[in-house]
Amino acid sequence: MNKRKSLALISVLTVIMLASGCSQGLKQKDKDYSMESKAAKDARMKWWRQGRFGMFIHWGLYATPAGQWQGKEIGGIGEWIMHRAQIPVDQYEPLAGQFNPVKFNAKEWVKIAKNAGMKYIVITSKHHDGFCLFDSDLTDYDIMDATPFKRDIMKELADQCHRQGIKICWYHSIMDWHHPDYLPRRNWEKRPADGADYDRYVAYMKGQLKELVTNYGDIGILWFDGEWEKTWTHERGEDLYDYVRSLQDDIIINNRVDKGRQGMAGLTKKGEFRGDYGTPEQEIPATGLPGVDWESCMTMNDTWGFKKNDHNWKSATTLIHNLVDIASKGGNFLLNVGPTAEGLIPAASVERLAAMGKWMDVNGESIYGSKASPFKKLPWGRCTQKKGKLYLHVFDWPKDRILVVPGLKNKVKKAYLLAGMKGHSLPVTRKAEDVLIELPAKMDSPATVIVLEIKDSAQVVDAAVR
Ligand code: GLC
Repeated sequence: MNKRKSLALISVLTVIMLASGCSQGLKQKDKDYSMESKAAKDARMKWWRQGRFGMFIHWGLYATPAGQWQGKEIGGIGEWIMHRAQIPVDQYEPLAGQFNPVKFNAKEWVKIAKNAGMKYIVITSKHHDGFCLFDSDLTDYDIMDATPFKRDIMKELADQCHRQGIKICWYHSIMDWHHPDYLPRRNWEKRPADGADYDRYVAYMKGQLKELVTNYGDIGILWFDGEWEKTWTHERGEDLYDYVRSLQDDIIINNRVDKGRQGMAGLTKKGEFRGDYGTPEQEIPATGLPGVDWESCMTMNDTWGFKKNDHNWKSATTLIHNLVDIASKGGNFLLNVGPTAEGLIPAASVERLAAMGKWMDVNGESIYGSKASPFKKLPWGRCTQKKGKLYLHVFDWPKDRILVVPGLKNKVKKAYLLAGMKGHSLPVTRKAEDVLIELPAKMDSPATVIVLEIKDSAQVVDAAVR
């Protein structure tokens, strides 16, 4: 480690370890974050609830092997290759010397996200393999010291996000397969654990979080992961949440900071757990969850980190339906891309994002800042709502072109296509408690949105948010 870094490391670790009494569980005394008022939380969550759609980026050294090790195809998700192929630290580390993503273009990446209608980017500042994509004074295992690239990728992206008006957010793994103080070791590893000190690891992680939250301008979210290891405790989660909030008061932090997440379903258990929102992974909750903030994260193929032989792409229509389904249940959609080692977002992802953007350009009003559907189930699609408006997303065009909106009590003002000419109404009639809308010929869209303007907020017979 160079001299500048060793000095920085010693001073940061000393300050953090002294401040935390060198033990777990001590809270930042100046503010009790568990006492935040509803109004204060609403204000902090406002942009996130409004934005609804974000880009997840998994990028790191694993993009180079891209799913293959020593001539073999390695199963599972790409960013887990170190563990799946049981690659010892000293054999994995040299991947850094090969990491030279000369085609990386922050402006282009942010433009791709923005054009898709995304309002935030969450990128892996450090994944489980411990490699840091940012310039850290606390390790040499980072983009500046260990790679020929020597450009602070996080800085370039943060600057572009700020310039192009979307939020930059960090995914940061608590689990670390590289740091000598991190425990436990993998069960296949020969690396001795003698002398490892988990408290010192936590101080290192906090030091890095301080760099990430203070050196890159305003940060939207800290998206933690890897909290399931037994060394991570509820007390540590509380302490870390409070620490990050003390660095930037209005930052949003996901529930993987603490121990409250319920498996892949991702929502937070009842109890005093830290974390501002639930994180379902590769799934969408069956129903809406009134009053609960959540975000489904999903891959476009079957991996987060790039794998050259994974071509199992979801169609643009499926992705649009997922976005709508999630919005109709009151959640956010964090959709992943896994760039290549050269620094390119795969063409298949770019195409799909462009198709989503085309749809969002016309229909974004039905997603941004919308609320969950008031209907239990709609056989033809989904619904989102805003004050005085229902957005009916038609996935399956009714053969008789009559769209039945079941059990709607409100007085209807008018119905029209969101993509259509303003003021061009669709005929609406009533049959008992149902509202019937006469549709035009089938529209050429993965989800056609009909706006139903109603008096007051939606009231549905046998209502249950769905
Ligand atoms: C899992 C995986 C991880 C991925 C994350 C995304 O927790 O361990 O590789 O980053 O899911 O949600």
